[in-house]
Amino acid sequence: MRGGVGRCRWLAGGVAALFALAAIAVSLAWQRIFDSVLASQLALVPGSRSYVSWEAPAVPLRFDIYLFNWTNADHFPEETPHVEQLGPYSFREERRHVNVTVNPETDSLSYRTFRSYSFDPEASNGTLEDNVTTLNPIASAAIYKARESGYIQQKTLGMGLAMFGQQMAVSKPARELMFEGYDDLMLEFAKTLPDSATGGAPKIDRFGWFYQRNNSIDSDGFMEVTLGSRGGSLPGQILNWNTEENLPYYSGQCAELAGSVGEFLPRDLTPSSRLTMFMADLCRTLHLRYSGSGELQGLQYHTYEVNRDVFDAGSKENECFCNGACAWGGVMNVSACRYGAPSFITLPHFLYADEELRELVTGLQPDEEKHSFYFSVEPKLGIPLDVAARFQLNIYMEPTPNIALYENVPRLLFPVLWVEQRVTIDDTVLAELRFVRAVLDWGAIFSAGVALVLAAIVALTTCTNICLKKPKYLPPADLLFERPKDEAEMKLNPM
Ligand SMILES: *[C@@H]1O[C@H](CO)[C@@H](O)[C@H](O)[C@H]1NC(C)=O
Ligand SMILES: *[C@@H]1O[C@H](CO)[C@@H](O)[C@H](O)[C@H]1NC(C)=O
Ligand SMILES: *[C@@H]1O[C@H](CO)[C@@H](O)[C@H](O)[C@H]1NC(C)=O
Ligand SMILES: *[C@@H]1O[C@H](CO)[C@@H](O)[C@H](O)[C@H]1NC(C)=O
Ligand SMILES: *[C@@H]1O[C@H](CO)[C@@H](O)[C@H](O)[C@H]1NC(C)=O
Ligand SMILES: *[C@@H]1O[C@H](CO)[C@@H](O)[C@H](O)[C@H]1NC(C)=O
Repeated sequence: MRGGVGRCRWLAGGVAALFALAAIAVSLAWQRIFDSVLASQLALVPGSRSYVSWEAPAVPLRFDIYLFNWTNADHFPEETPHVEQLGPYSFREERRHVNVTVNPETDSLSYRTFRSYSFDPEASNGTLEDNVTTLNPIASAAIYKARESGYIQQKTLGMGLAMFGQQMAVSKPARELMFEGYDDLMLEFAKTLPDSATGGAPKIDRFGWFYQRNNSIDSDGFMEVTLGSRGGSLPGQILNWNTEENLPYYSGQCAELAGSVGEFLPRDLTPSSRLTMFMADLCRTLHLRYSGSGELQGLQYHTYEVNRDVFDAGSKENECFCNGACAWGGVMNVSACRYGAPSFITLPHFLYADEELRELVTGLQPDEEKHSFYFSVEPKLGIPLDVAARFQLNIYMEPTPNIALYENVPRLLFPVLWVEQRVTIDDTVLAELRFVRAVLDWGAIFSAGVALVLAAIVALTTCTNICLKKPKYLPPADLLFERPKDEAEMKLNPM
C-alpha cells in the first residue's frame, strides 16, 4: 500500500498545484477581467447604462456667473480701474447630447450638445436687474481689430465710434450682459459689412457674453469622440472638432486635439499622470497636473489642476499659443477662436497669473480655494468625484494712437466675468463606487482564496477516492515499480 499512497499524494499534489496556479492566474488576470467588464459597462454603445446617462445627464448641473462691476469708470484713465465682484448669478443647466451618430466601424460617435439655462434666484446673490458697469466690449473689439490697420482706417474707425456714441464703458442690467444681449447701433452697422471686415464673425443683432447660448446646440461645436467599444479603448476621447482633426488656430503642439471632453477619464491614474482634456470654451487641449491626494468618505482621490505651468506663457509648451505676442504669464489668448475679438482667458481673479495684472486693475483677490480649476478623481477607476471648472474672461486693451477713445489707455487685461461649473458626486453614486472599488481591491484576493479552497477540496477528495478505494484494484507496488509492465497491464493501467 505504501506505493499507492505515494502515487496518490503525487496526484493530489498535482491537482492542487494546478488549482493553485489557476488561483494565481485568476488573481493576476483579475485586473484585466475587471477592466474589460468595466470597459464594456462604460462603452457608449446606445442602450447601455453609460450611454443613457451620457445622452441626458441626470446630475443637476449649475452654471454660476460672477460679473465684475467697474466702479470708477468715470475716472478712467486717470484712475486705475477698480472692479467689484457681483454674484453668483446662478443658473440651472440642462444638457443633452443630440444629433448623435454612432459609427461602429471607426469606433466613434459624433454629436452636438444642447444646453439650456434657467435662472435660480434662490441660489443667486443679486438679481438679473442689477445695474452693472463694464468695459464697452464692442468698441474694444473694433479697436483691437484695427490696431494693425493704417492711419486712415484707424481715423475712420475713430470717427465711426464717435458717431455711434460708443463710450469707454457700458452700464446694463446683468441679464442683458449675460444671456439676453443688448441692442447696439454699431452691431446693426456691422451686419451690413462684408465678412472680410468682421473676420467671419456671425452677424448678430445683440451683444451678450452668453447671447444665443440658451437652447442652443452650437456653443460646444460638433464633436466626434471614441465609442470605447473595442478592447482597451476609452470612450469619450476627442477625435474631431467641427470636423477638424487639429485646432486650426494654432500650429505645432498647440494645435493638438486630444483627451477627454470631460465625462470619461483614463483609469489607473498616478501622481505622475497628466489629465488631458479638451475644452471647447478655451479652444484648446489642457494638460492638468497632479496637485495632491485626499479621501472622500472612504474613497481615495487624486486632484489634477490647472496650475501655474498650464497657462505659463514662458514655457516651451505654450509658446505656440501666443503667436509671438505673449504678454503675461497665466494668460491664454483665445482671440484666434473668437473671430479676432480681444478675448483672454485666465483663472478667476488672475489666480496663478502675473501679479502685474492685479496692479493694473484693482479689486481682485485670488484664492486657491475659490478660484482654482481642478478635477478630483478616483484614480483606479478614473471617476471624477469633485470637479470645479472655472475661468475668467478678460478684454485686452492697449493704447491706439489714432483712435481718440483709446489714445491714452494703459495696456492691460480688463476682467469682465468669471464662470464656475461645480459638480460633486452624490452619496448614492459614492456608495456604488466604494462597492466597485472594493470588488476591484478584494476580488483578486477573494478569487485566489476561492481557488485555493477548491484546490484543497479537490486534493482531499482525489486522495480519498483514489487512495482509499482505488488501491484494491491496482497491482501491488512491488510489481508496478520493480518489474516492467507487460503490454496488457499497460493498457489496463496506463497510469
Ligand atoms: C455697479 O457700480 C455702479 C457704479 O459705481 C453702481 O452705481 C452700481 O450700483 C453698481 N451695481 C451693483 C449691482 O452694485
Ligand atoms: C453678495 O454680493 C455682495 C456684492 O454685491 C457681496 O458683498 C457679498 O459678500 C455677497 N454675498 C455672498 C454670500 O457671496
Ligand atoms: C439636430 O438635432 C436637433 C434637435 O434634436 C434637430 O432639430 C436638428 O434638425 C438636428 N440637426 C441635424 C443636422 O440632424
Ligand atoms: C432659456 O430659455 C428658456 C425657454 O425658452 C427660458 O425659460 C429661460 O428663461 C431662458 N434662460 C435664460 C437664462 O434666459
Ligand atoms: C446704472 O449705473 C450707471 C453708472 O452708475 C448710471 O449712469 C445709470 O443711470 C444706471 N442705470 C440705471 C438703469 O439705473
Ligand atoms: C493674440 O493672438 C492673436 C492670434 O492668435 C494674435 O494675432 C495677437 O497678436 C495676440 N494678441 C496679443 C495681445 O498677444
